[in-house]
Amino acid sequence: MSLPWEDAAPGIREVVREAQSRLAAVSTGERARLLAALRDDMVTEYDARFLVEYLDGLEIPLSDEFRGVLARWYRDEVRHFSSFRCVVEALVGEDAEPDLNARTPDFAKVAHLFESEFEILCLLAYDELATLRGYRGNLPLYDLLGAPLGDLVRRVIGDEAGHYAGFRALLIEKHAHRLDEVEDVVRIIRASEGTPYQATFVLDHDDPVYGDHIFDDAARVLVAQMRREHARTAAL
Ligand SMILES: [Fe+2]
Ligand SMILES: [Fe+2]
Repeated sequence: MSLPWEDAAPGIREVVREAQSRLAAVSTGERARLLAALRDDMVTEYDARFLVEYLDGLEIPLSDEFRGVLARWYRDEVRHFSSFRCVVEALVGEDAEPDLNARTPDFAKVAHLFESEFEILCLLAYDELATLRGYRGNLPLYDLLGAPLGDLVRRVIGDEAGHYAGFRALLIEKHAHRLDEVEDVVRIIRASEGTPYQATFVLDHDDPVYGDHIFDDAARVLVAQMRREHARTAAL
């Protein structure tokens, strides 16, 4: 087993050490939930690579600014993946490689959400808002494995918030003329929740922490912020 320590977040060795020492004291039910959540986090963050490949293969124009934001986003998602992989492998005592190699992305059922850079930004912004709510909702679970893991997940939440802010900024800067369409686009994205997840990174909301409350809230926040921005620019 070769843990990706060097790609993981700073302090990962302490996170793993503390999590390993705490695991035995966690109840059987909570342990199963925790390991399932951590494994889900690991594979979803891993799937970011498939999203990058899919975007690269799309025959639609993507701006240099978009590619720049996406490159920074990807570096963070790789760090998230590597961090969760270190934790998962140490806790279950197994190499995750076979599991990861078996992943087979299929974008067919979400392809309609990738019409142009504008729609993609709406999707990514919405997805980050939902994801950070998922991590936040599972914090009591992660905290069972010690403060270092709790801190790590809080840093991940900070990163996801940063990703949202980056996509939102691009929407405002590059797509101001379409901000009045955000509500319709987000309605279509929201309606796609529940599509069976197939390693597409976006809309992986299988963990039981997710539900209508998170999806509705993510949609509401994105639409409200874009509506406010549209009203502000329309008044200029
Ligand atoms: Fe992430
Ligand atoms: Fe993210």
